[in-house]
Amino acid sequence: MAASASGRGQWGSQLGFVLAAAGSAIGLGNIWRFPYVTGQSGGGAFVLVYLCCVVFVALPVMLLEISLGRATQRNPVGALLAVRPGTRWRFLGYLALATGLGILSYYAVIAGKVAAYCASYARALTGGGGADYQGTAGSVVFYFAFFLVLTLAVVAGGVQRGIERWSKILMPLLLVTMLGIIARGLFLPGSLAGVQWFLTPDFSKIDGRVVLAAMAQAFFSLSLGMGAMLTYGSYLSKQQDILRCGAWVVFFDTLVAVLAGLMIFPAVFALGHDPAAGTTLTFQVLPAVFAGMPGGTAIGLLFFFLLGVAALTSTVSLLEVVTAYFVDERSWPRSRAVWAVSAATFVVGIPSAFDLAGHDPFSSLRLLGQQGFLGLMDFVWGNLSLAFGSLMLCLFGIFVWGLPRAAAEIASTSPFFARFSRVWIFFVRWLCPLAIAFILATLFGL
Ligand code: PFF
Repeated sequence: MAASASGRGQWGSQLGFVLAAAGSAIGLGNIWRFPYVTGQSGGGAFVLVYLCCVVFVALPVMLLEISLGRATQRNPVGALLAVRPGTRWRFLGYLALATGLGILSYYAVIAGKVAAYCASYARALTGGGGADYQGTAGSVVFYFAFFLVLTLAVVAGGVQRGIERWSKILMPLLLVTMLGIIARGLFLPGSLAGVQWFLTPDFSKIDGRVVLAAMAQAFFSLSLGMGAMLTYGSYLSKQQDILRCGAWVVFFDTLVAVLAGLMIFPAVFALGHDPAAGTTLTFQVLPAVFAGMPGGTAIGLLFFFLLGVAALTSTVSLLEVVTAYFVDERSWPRSRAVWAVSAATFVVGIPSAFDLAGHDPFSSLRLLGQQGFLGLMDFVWGNLSLAFGSLMLCLFGIFVWGLPRAAAEIASTSPFFARFSRVWIFFVRWLCPLAIAFILATLFGL
Protein backbone atom coordinates (compact mmCIF):
# COMPACT_ATOMS: atom_id res chain seq x y z
CA MET A 1 0.00 0.00 0.00
CA ALA A 2 1.31 3.38 -0.92
CA ALA A 3 0.65 5.90 1.82
CA SER A 4 -0.13 9.22 0.16
CA ALA A 5 1.39 12.51 1.30
CA SER A 6 -1.65 13.13 3.51
CA GLY A 7 -1.16 9.82 5.28
CA ARG A 8 -4.45 8.46 3.98
CA GLY A 9 -4.58 5.07 2.42
CA GLN A 10 -4.30 4.51 -1.31
CA TRP A 11 -5.09 1.60 -3.58
CA GLY A 12 -2.07 -0.59 -4.19
CA SER A 13 -2.95 -0.74 -7.86
CA GLN A 14 -5.52 0.34 -10.42
CA LEU A 15 -6.89 -3.20 -10.29
CA GLY A 16 -7.42 -2.74 -6.55
CA PHE A 17 -9.69 0.23 -7.19
CA VAL A 18 -11.59 -1.47 -9.99
CA LEU A 19 -12.23 -4.59 -7.92
CA ALA A 20 -13.25 -2.66 -4.82
CA ALA A 21 -15.48 -0.21 -6.71
CA ALA A 22 -16.99 -3.05 -8.73
CA GLY A 23 -17.51 -4.83 -5.42
CA SER A 24 -19.43 -1.83 -4.15
CA ALA A 25 -21.52 -1.67 -7.30
CA ILE A 26 -22.19 -5.39 -7.56
CA GLY A 27 -24.49 -6.59 -4.82
CA LEU A 28 -28.09 -7.31 -3.92
CA GLY A 29 -28.90 -4.59 -6.47
CA ASN A 30 -27.69 -6.81 -9.31
CA ILE A 31 -28.63 -10.26 -8.15
CA TRP A 32 -31.83 -9.65 -6.20
CA ARG A 33 -33.18 -6.24 -7.25
CA PHE A 34 -32.35 -6.24 -10.99
CA PRO A 35 -34.04 -9.59 -11.76
CA TYR A 36 -37.18 -8.82 -9.79
CA VAL A 37 -37.56 -5.34 -11.30
CA THR A 38 -36.90 -6.81 -14.75
CA GLY A 39 -39.49 -9.48 -14.02
CA GLN A 40 -42.08 -6.88 -13.10
CA SER A 41 -41.22 -4.59 -16.00
CA GLY A 42 -41.68 -7.07 -18.81
CA GLY A 43 -38.23 -8.47 -19.55
CA GLY A 44 -36.15 -7.52 -22.60
CA ALA A 45 -37.60 -4.03 -23.08
CA PHE A 46 -36.64 -3.06 -19.53
CA VAL A 47 -33.15 -4.46 -20.03
CA LEU A 48 -32.68 -2.28 -23.11
CA VAL A 49 -33.87 0.91 -21.34
CA TYR A 50 -31.68 0.04 -18.36
CA LEU A 51 -28.60 -0.27 -20.60
CA CYS A 52 -29.33 3.16 -22.12
CA CYS A 53 -29.68 4.72 -18.64
CA VAL A 54 -26.38 3.16 -17.57
CA VAL A 55 -24.43 4.40 -20.60
CA PHE A 56 -25.97 7.85 -21.12
CA VAL A 57 -26.77 8.98 -17.57
CA ALA A 58 -25.00 6.85 -14.96
CA LEU A 59 -21.56 6.57 -16.61
CA PRO A 60 -21.12 10.37 -17.02
CA VAL A 61 -22.21 10.92 -13.39
CA MET A 62 -19.85 8.20 -12.24
CA LEU A 63 -16.87 9.89 -13.92
CA LEU A 64 -17.81 13.15 -12.19
CA GLU A 65 -18.02 11.44 -8.81
CA ILE A 66 -14.72 9.59 -9.13
CA SER A 67 -12.93 12.68 -10.44
CA LEU A 68 -14.13 14.82 -7.52
CA GLY A 69 -12.79 12.16 -5.16
CA ARG A 70 -9.44 11.85 -6.89
CA ALA A 71 -9.01 15.62 -7.28
CA THR A 72 -9.66 16.36 -3.60
CA GLN A 73 -8.54 13.08 -2.00
CA ARG A 74 -11.28 13.55 0.58
CA ASN A 75 -14.56 12.09 1.91
CA PRO A 76 -17.88 13.48 0.58
CA VAL A 77 -18.06 16.41 3.01
CA GLY A 78 -14.33 17.19 2.83
CA ALA A 79 -14.35 17.05 -0.97
CA LEU A 80 -16.99 19.76 -1.26
CA LEU A 81 -15.19 21.91 1.32
CA ALA A 82 -11.87 21.41 -0.47
CA VAL A 83 -13.35 22.84 -3.67
CA ARG A 84 -14.87 25.83 -1.87
CA PRO A 85 -14.02 26.32 1.82
CA GLY A 86 -17.02 26.95 4.05
CA THR A 87 -19.49 26.26 1.24
CA ARG A 88 -23.12 25.51 2.04
CA TRP A 89 -22.88 22.69 -0.48
CA ARG A 90 -21.34 20.68 2.35
CA PHE A 91 -24.90 19.78 3.26
CA LEU A 92 -24.88 17.63 0.16
CA GLY A 93 -22.00 15.77 1.84
CA TYR A 94 -24.00 15.33 5.05
CA LEU A 95 -26.91 14.06 2.98
CA ALA A 96 -24.52 11.53 1.43
CA LEU A 97 -23.51 10.32 4.90
CA ALA A 98 -27.14 10.01 6.00
CA THR A 99 -27.92 8.12 2.80
CA GLY A 100 -25.02 5.74 3.40
CA LEU A 101 -26.27 4.97 6.88
CA GLY A 102 -29.88 4.80 5.69
CA ILE A 103 -29.15 2.31 2.90
CA LEU A 104 -26.83 0.25 5.07
CA SER A 105 -29.53 -0.05 7.75
CA TYR A 106 -31.95 -2.04 5.56
CA TYR A 107 -29.46 -3.47 3.07
CA ALA A 108 -27.67 -5.30 5.88
CA VAL A 109 -31.03 -6.67 7.04
CA ILE A 110 -31.65 -8.27 3.63
CA ALA A 111 -28.01 -9.36 3.47
CA GLY A 112 -28.50 -10.95 6.89
CA LYS A 113 -31.40 -12.92 5.46
CA VAL A 114 -29.07 -14.14 2.74
CA ALA A 115 -26.62 -15.29 5.42
CA ALA A 116 -29.48 -17.08 7.18
CA TYR A 117 -30.42 -18.92 3.96
CA CYS A 118 -26.79 -19.83 3.52
CA ALA A 119 -26.70 -21.28 7.02
CA SER A 120 -29.86 -23.32 6.52
CA TYR A 121 -28.60 -24.73 3.20
CA ALA A 122 -25.33 -25.63 4.91
CA ARG A 123 -27.31 -27.41 7.66
CA ALA A 124 -29.46 -29.20 5.08
CA LEU A 125 -26.39 -30.31 3.20
CA THR A 126 -24.85 -31.79 6.33
CA GLY A 127 -28.05 -33.73 7.00
CA GLY A 128 -29.80 -31.40 9.43
CA GLY A 129 -33.28 -31.23 7.87
CA GLY A 130 -34.92 -29.01 5.22
CA ALA A 131 -33.41 -25.93 3.67
CA ASP A 132 -36.20 -23.50 4.44
CA TYR A 133 -35.54 -20.57 6.70
CA GLN A 134 -38.28 -19.50 9.13
CA GLY A 135 -37.37 -15.90 9.82
CA THR A 136 -38.51 -15.10 13.34
CA ALA A 137 -37.90 -11.52 14.46
CA GLY A 138 -35.15 -12.69 16.81
CA SER A 139 -33.28 -14.57 14.15
CA VAL A 140 -33.62 -11.78 11.54
CA VAL A 141 -32.16 -9.30 14.05
CA PHE A 142 -29.42 -11.80 14.89
CA TYR A 143 -28.35 -12.27 11.26
CA PHE A 144 -28.60 -8.51 10.65
CA ALA A 145 -26.17 -7.95 13.54
CA PHE A 146 -23.98 -10.77 12.26
CA PHE A 147 -23.73 -9.15 8.83
CA LEU A 148 -22.93 -5.76 10.34
CA VAL A 149 -20.10 -7.32 12.34
CA LEU A 150 -18.70 -8.96 9.18
CA THR A 151 -18.81 -5.58 7.42
CA LEU A 152 -17.23 -3.84 10.37
CA ALA A 153 -14.37 -6.35 10.49
CA VAL A 154 -13.48 -5.68 6.84
CA VAL A 155 -13.76 -1.88 7.10
CA ALA A 156 -11.77 -1.79 10.34
CA GLY A 157 -8.88 -3.37 8.42
CA GLY A 158 -8.51 -0.12 6.46
CA VAL A 159 -8.47 0.68 2.79
CA GLN A 160 -5.92 -1.72 1.49
CA ARG A 161 -5.61 -4.43 4.11
CA GLY A 162 -9.37 -4.70 4.43
CA ILE A 163 -11.26 -3.64 1.35
CA GLU A 164 -8.74 -4.18 -1.42
CA ARG A 165 -7.53 -7.58 -0.28
CA TRP A 166 -11.01 -8.98 0.23
CA SER A 167 -12.26 -7.66 -3.08
CA LYS A 168 -9.36 -9.21 -4.92
CA ILE A 169 -10.28 -12.63 -3.59
CA LEU A 170 -14.05 -12.40 -3.58
CA MET A 171 -14.98 -10.71 -6.85
CA PRO A 172 -13.37 -13.20 -9.24
CA LEU A 173 -14.86 -16.01 -7.17
CA LEU A 174 -18.27 -14.45 -7.65
CA LEU A 175 -18.01 -14.38 -11.44
CA VAL A 176 -16.82 -17.97 -11.71
CA THR A 177 -19.59 -19.22 -9.43
CA MET A 178 -22.26 -17.41 -11.43
CA LEU A 179 -21.02 -18.86 -14.70
CA GLY A 180 -21.25 -22.33 -13.16
CA ILE A 181 -24.86 -21.81 -12.07
CA ILE A 182 -25.85 -20.41 -15.48
CA ALA A 183 -24.35 -23.42 -17.24
CA ARG A 184 -26.26 -25.70 -14.88
CA GLY A 185 -29.56 -23.85 -15.48
CA LEU A 186 -29.26 -23.92 -19.27
CA PHE A 187 -29.37 -27.71 -19.22
CA LEU A 188 -32.92 -27.67 -17.83
CA PRO A 189 -35.56 -28.45 -20.47
CA GLY A 190 -37.55 -25.31 -21.37
CA SER A 191 -34.92 -22.91 -20.10
CA LEU A 192 -34.40 -21.24 -23.48
CA ALA A 193 -37.82 -19.57 -23.22
CA GLY A 194 -36.41 -17.68 -20.23
CA VAL A 195 -33.34 -16.57 -22.16
CA GLN A 196 -35.54 -15.33 -24.98
CA TRP A 197 -37.91 -13.50 -22.64
CA PHE A 198 -34.97 -11.83 -20.94
CA LEU A 199 -33.14 -10.74 -24.08
CA THR A 200 -35.84 -9.92 -26.66
CA PRO A 201 -37.23 -6.40 -26.25
CA ASP A 202 -40.95 -5.88 -26.75
CA PHE A 203 -41.08 -2.15 -27.42
CA SER A 204 -44.78 -1.85 -26.61
CA LYS A 205 -43.84 -2.45 -22.96
CA ILE A 206 -41.73 0.73 -22.67
CA ASP A 207 -43.60 3.46 -20.80
CA GLY A 208 -42.80 6.13 -18.18
CA ARG A 209 -42.89 3.61 -15.35
CA VAL A 210 -40.34 1.38 -17.07
CA VAL A 211 -37.97 4.29 -17.70
CA LEU A 212 -38.31 5.40 -14.11
CA ALA A 213 -37.60 1.94 -12.73
CA ALA A 214 -34.60 1.60 -15.05
CA MET A 215 -33.02 4.91 -14.08
CA ALA A 216 -33.46 4.37 -10.34
CA GLN A 217 -32.02 0.89 -10.73
CA ALA A 218 -28.98 2.28 -12.57
CA PHE A 219 -28.09 4.67 -9.72
CA PHE A 220 -28.67 2.06 -7.05
CA SER A 221 -26.74 -0.61 -8.88
CA LEU A 222 -23.75 1.61 -9.61
CA SER A 223 -23.62 3.02 -6.05
CA LEU A 224 -24.02 6.56 -7.36
CA GLY A 225 -25.27 9.70 -5.69
CA MET A 226 -24.05 9.18 -2.13
CA GLY A 227 -20.32 9.51 -2.33
CA ALA A 228 -19.32 5.83 -2.44
CA MET A 229 -17.54 6.26 -5.77
CA LEU A 230 -16.23 9.62 -4.60
CA THR A 231 -14.71 8.05 -1.48
CA TYR A 232 -13.20 5.11 -3.40
CA GLY A 233 -11.94 7.59 -6.03
CA SER A 234 -10.25 9.53 -3.25
CA TYR A 235 -7.95 6.56 -2.67
CA LEU A 236 -6.83 6.65 -6.32
CA SER A 237 -3.41 8.12 -6.96
CA LYS A 238 -2.99 10.95 -9.44
CA GLN A 239 -1.47 8.56 -11.97
CA GLN A 240 -4.49 6.30 -12.21
CA ASP A 241 -6.89 6.56 -15.11
CA ILE A 242 -10.42 7.60 -14.07
CA LEU A 243 -12.06 6.88 -17.42
CA ARG A 244 -10.65 3.40 -17.64
CA CYS A 245 -11.50 2.63 -14.00
CA GLY A 246 -15.05 3.98 -14.31
CA ALA A 247 -15.67 2.14 -17.56
CA TRP A 248 -14.49 -1.17 -16.09
CA VAL A 249 -16.73 -0.74 -13.05
CA VAL A 250 -19.75 -0.03 -15.25
CA PHE A 251 -18.85 -2.98 -17.47
CA PHE A 252 -18.52 -5.46 -14.57
CA ASP A 253 -21.66 -4.23 -12.84
CA THR A 254 -23.72 -4.52 -16.00
CA LEU A 255 -22.19 -7.88 -16.81
CA VAL A 256 -23.16 -9.26 -13.41
CA ALA A 257 -26.71 -7.89 -13.69
CA VAL A 258 -27.10 -9.57 -17.08
CA LEU A 259 -25.53 -12.78 -15.77
CA ALA A 260 -27.92 -12.67 -12.80
CA GLY A 261 -30.81 -12.49 -15.26
CA LEU A 262 -29.38 -15.42 -17.19
CA MET A 263 -28.97 -17.31 -13.93
CA ILE A 264 -32.52 -16.76 -12.73
CA PHE A 265 -34.94 -16.48 -15.67
CA PRO A 266 -34.10 -19.67 -17.58
CA ALA A 267 -34.61 -21.65 -14.36
CA VAL A 268 -37.81 -19.76 -13.52
CA PHE A 269 -39.26 -20.50 -16.97
CA ALA A 270 -38.08 -24.10 -17.04
CA LEU A 271 -39.83 -24.79 -13.74
CA GLY A 272 -43.00 -22.82 -14.54
CA HIS A 273 -42.69 -19.97 -12.03
CA ASP A 274 -43.90 -16.39 -12.45
CA PRO A 275 -41.14 -13.95 -13.47
CA ALA A 276 -43.21 -11.07 -12.05
CA ALA A 277 -43.25 -12.52 -8.53
CA GLY A 278 -41.69 -9.31 -7.16
CA THR A 279 -39.30 -8.91 -4.23
CA THR A 280 -39.83 -12.55 -3.36
CA LEU A 281 -38.37 -13.78 -6.67
CA THR A 282 -35.00 -14.53 -5.09
CA PHE A 283 -36.13 -15.54 -1.63
CA GLN A 284 -39.12 -17.72 -2.44
CA VAL A 285 -38.98 -18.74 -6.08
CA LEU A 286 -35.30 -19.61 -6.24
CA PRO A 287 -35.28 -22.03 -3.31
CA ALA A 288 -38.26 -23.72 -4.97
CA VAL A 289 -36.27 -23.79 -8.20
CA PHE A 290 -33.27 -25.30 -6.42
CA ALA A 291 -35.47 -27.85 -4.69
CA GLY A 292 -36.61 -29.12 -8.10
CA MET A 293 -33.06 -29.67 -9.28
CA PRO A 294 -30.82 -32.62 -8.68
CA GLY A 295 -28.03 -31.39 -6.41
CA GLY A 296 -30.24 -28.40 -5.55
CA THR A 297 -29.12 -28.08 -1.94
CA ALA A 298 -25.49 -27.65 -2.96
CA ILE A 299 -26.49 -25.22 -5.72
CA GLY A 300 -28.62 -23.28 -3.23
CA LEU A 301 -25.75 -23.07 -0.78
CA LEU A 302 -23.44 -21.83 -3.53
CA PHE A 303 -25.97 -19.27 -4.72
CA PHE A 304 -26.71 -17.76 -1.32
CA PHE A 305 -23.03 -17.76 -0.44
CA LEU A 306 -22.38 -15.84 -3.63
CA LEU A 307 -25.16 -13.39 -2.94
CA GLY A 308 -23.78 -12.85 0.58
CA VAL A 309 -20.30 -12.19 -0.81
CA ALA A 310 -21.66 -9.66 -3.29
CA ALA A 311 -23.67 -7.96 -0.55
CA LEU A 312 -20.66 -7.80 1.77
CA THR A 313 -18.49 -5.86 -0.68
CA SER A 314 -21.40 -3.41 -1.03
CA THR A 315 -22.06 -2.98 2.71
CA VAL A 316 -18.33 -2.42 3.13
CA SER A 317 -18.49 0.57 0.78
CA LEU A 318 -21.55 1.98 2.54
CA LEU A 319 -19.82 1.80 5.93
CA GLU A 320 -16.54 3.10 4.49
CA VAL A 321 -18.13 6.35 3.26
CA VAL A 322 -19.37 7.32 6.71
CA THR A 323 -16.22 6.05 8.42
CA ALA A 324 -13.98 8.10 6.09
CA TYR A 325 -15.81 11.25 7.19
CA PHE A 326 -15.14 10.66 10.89
CA VAL A 327 -11.53 9.66 10.24
CA ASP A 328 -10.73 12.61 7.92
CA GLU A 329 -12.83 15.43 9.29
CA ARG A 330 -13.17 14.56 12.97
CA SER A 331 -9.78 12.84 13.38
CA TRP A 332 -11.40 9.82 15.05
CA PRO A 333 -9.36 6.63 15.20
CA ARG A 334 -10.61 4.29 12.49
CA SER A 335 -11.78 1.64 14.92
CA ARG A 336 -13.87 4.08 16.95
CA ALA A 337 -15.51 5.47 13.80
CA VAL A 338 -16.33 1.98 12.54
CA TRP A 339 -17.88 0.84 15.83
CA ALA A 340 -19.88 4.01 16.41
CA VAL A 341 -21.33 4.07 12.89
CA SER A 342 -22.17 0.37 13.02
CA ALA A 343 -23.93 0.76 16.37
CA ALA A 344 -26.02 3.65 15.02
CA THR A 345 -26.84 1.63 11.90
CA PHE A 346 -27.97 -1.29 14.02
CA VAL A 347 -30.43 0.87 15.94
CA VAL A 348 -31.83 2.48 12.78
CA GLY A 349 -32.15 -0.92 11.10
CA ILE A 350 -34.17 -2.69 13.80
CA PRO A 351 -37.61 -1.63 12.48
CA SER A 352 -36.57 -2.92 9.01
CA ALA A 353 -35.56 -6.24 10.57
CA PHE A 354 -38.94 -6.53 12.29
CA ASP A 355 -40.65 -5.66 9.01
CA LEU A 356 -38.79 -8.40 7.16
CA ALA A 357 -39.80 -10.85 9.88
CA GLY A 358 -43.46 -9.91 9.37
CA HIS A 359 -43.83 -7.72 12.46
CA ASP A 360 -43.67 -4.21 11.05
CA PRO A 361 -43.85 -1.83 14.03
CA PHE A 362 -45.07 0.91 11.70
CA SER A 363 -47.46 -1.19 9.64
CA SER A 364 -50.24 1.38 9.99
CA LEU A 365 -48.01 4.00 8.42
CA ARG A 366 -48.52 4.53 4.68
CA LEU A 367 -46.01 7.13 3.56
CA LEU A 368 -45.18 8.11 -0.04
CA GLY A 369 -47.25 5.23 -1.29
CA GLN A 370 -44.90 2.71 0.32
CA GLN A 371 -46.06 -0.18 2.42
CA GLY A 372 -43.88 -1.35 5.26
CA PHE A 373 -40.87 0.21 6.91
CA LEU A 374 -38.26 -1.51 4.76
CA GLY A 375 -39.99 -0.54 1.53
CA LEU A 376 -40.19 3.05 2.75
CA MET A 377 -36.47 3.11 3.61
CA ASP A 378 -35.58 1.69 0.17
CA PHE A 379 -37.76 4.28 -1.52
CA VAL A 380 -36.46 7.27 0.46
CA TRP A 381 -32.74 6.39 0.57
CA GLY A 382 -32.30 3.92 -2.29
CA ASN A 383 -34.36 5.77 -4.90
CA LEU A 384 -35.08 9.36 -3.92
CA SER A 385 -31.90 10.29 -2.15
CA LEU A 386 -29.54 8.71 -4.72
CA ALA A 387 -31.31 10.45 -7.61
CA PHE A 388 -31.37 13.75 -5.71
CA GLY A 389 -27.71 13.36 -4.70
CA SER A 390 -26.68 12.68 -8.31
CA LEU A 391 -28.63 15.70 -9.53
CA MET A 392 -27.03 17.93 -6.89
CA LEU A 393 -23.59 16.56 -7.75
CA CYS A 394 -24.13 17.58 -11.38
CA LEU A 395 -25.23 21.06 -10.23
CA PHE A 396 -22.19 21.29 -7.95
CA GLY A 397 -20.01 20.39 -10.94
CA ILE A 398 -21.72 22.94 -13.17
CA PHE A 399 -21.92 25.90 -10.78
CA VAL A 400 -19.16 25.48 -8.20
CA TRP A 401 -16.33 23.19 -9.25
CA GLY A 402 -16.64 23.92 -12.98
CA LEU A 403 -17.04 21.12 -15.48
CA PRO A 404 -13.96 22.14 -17.50
CA ARG A 405 -11.90 21.65 -14.34
CA ALA A 406 -13.52 18.28 -13.73
CA ALA A 407 -12.85 17.33 -17.35
CA ALA A 408 -9.21 18.41 -17.00
CA GLU A 409 -8.87 16.16 -13.93
CA ILE A 410 -10.08 13.17 -15.94
CA ALA A 411 -8.15 14.13 -19.08
CA SER A 412 -4.88 14.49 -17.17
CA THR A 413 -4.47 10.72 -17.19
CA SER A 414 -6.55 9.91 -20.24
CA PRO A 415 -5.60 11.32 -23.65
CA PHE A 416 -8.55 9.37 -25.03
CA PHE A 417 -10.97 11.23 -22.76
CA ALA A 418 -9.35 14.56 -23.68
CA ARG A 419 -10.65 14.17 -27.23
CA PHE A 420 -14.23 13.70 -26.02
CA SER A 421 -14.33 15.95 -22.98
CA ARG A 422 -16.77 18.35 -24.66
CA VAL A 423 -19.22 15.52 -25.19
CA TRP A 424 -18.93 14.53 -21.54
CA ILE A 425 -19.45 18.13 -20.42
CA PHE A 426 -22.57 18.33 -22.58
CA PHE A 427 -23.95 15.18 -20.96
CA VAL A 428 -23.28 16.32 -17.40
CA ARG A 429 -24.53 19.85 -18.05
CA TRP A 430 -27.74 18.97 -19.87
CA LEU A 431 -28.74 15.39 -20.37
CA CYS A 432 -28.02 13.97 -16.90
CA PRO A 433 -29.59 16.75 -14.78
CA LEU A 434 -32.66 16.96 -17.01
CA ALA A 435 -33.15 13.21 -17.06
CA ILE A 436 -32.78 12.98 -13.27
CA ALA A 437 -35.08 15.94 -12.70
CA PHE A 438 -37.61 14.10 -14.85
CA ILE A 439 -37.36 11.04 -12.64
CA LEU A 440 -37.74 13.04 -9.45
CA ALA A 441 -40.76 14.85 -10.87
CA THR A 442 -42.29 11.50 -11.82
CA LEU A 443 -41.56 10.04 -8.40
CA PHE A 444 -43.57 12.84 -6.86
CA GLY A 445 -46.28 12.44 -9.46
CA LEU A 446 -45.69 15.92 -10.89
N1 PFF B 1 -24.70 -0.92 -5.61
C1 PFF B 1 -25.12 -1.77 -4.55
C2 PFF B 1 -25.93 -2.92 -5.15
O1 PFF B 1 -26.22 -2.90 -6.34
O2 PFF B 1 -26.24 -3.83 -4.43
C3 PFF B 1 -25.91 -1.03 -3.49
C4 PFF B 1 -25.26 0.24 -3.06
C5 PFF B 1 -23.98 0.20 -2.47
C6 PFF B 1 -25.86 1.45 -3.29
C7 PFF B 1 -23.33 1.37 -2.12
C8 PFF B 1 -25.22 2.63 -2.93
C9 PFF B 1 -23.96 2.56 -2.36
F1 PFF B 1 -23.35 3.66 -2.04
